[in-house]
Amino acid sequence: MKTLLMVKPDTVSNGHYGEIISMLLKNRFDITKLRMRGFTRNEAEQFYAVHKQREFFPALVDYITSGPVVALQIEGDDIVRQIRTFIGTTNPADATPGTIRYMYGTSIQNNAVHASDSPDSSEKELAIVFSGF
Ligand code: CMP
Repeated sequence: MKTLLMVKPDTVSNGHYGEIISMLLKNRFDITKLRMRGFTRNEAEQFYAVHKQREFFPALVDYITSGPVVALQIEGDDIVRQIRTFIGTTNPADATPGTIRYMYGTSIQNNAVHASDSPDSSEKELAIVFSGF
């Protein structure tokens, strides 16, 4: 099984993505693709289409297009659940110490990373982020 973990623009520009990749490797996650790239608005709207009706959607698209992201394809058994546990809750304020969002997230929007929430969304999101790669 494969999933996507994506480091968000502010956590790429402040250099913390190196530590996040290091944490993944130290915890023996199997990274099988890695790419730094920007999102167009169109790609960001497609990527987050499920949130289109939410009031935070325009701000989310601005945020995710504000600079390059670092996308990682990670493979393993039960990998969607494993990675979601590893990153912590959406809101860093509720996250467990030791999780990526606890350590690097600064607000519910600027929560350091995104991870796919199901095998289906993993497939869709990996196709968007790694298209042409
Ligand atoms: P992510 O896991 O990438 O999925 C949707 C993103 O929307 C979320 O992380 C946050 O970056 C952003 N967001 C902003 N406000 C909210 C909110 N109130 N609830 C959930 N997600 C939010």
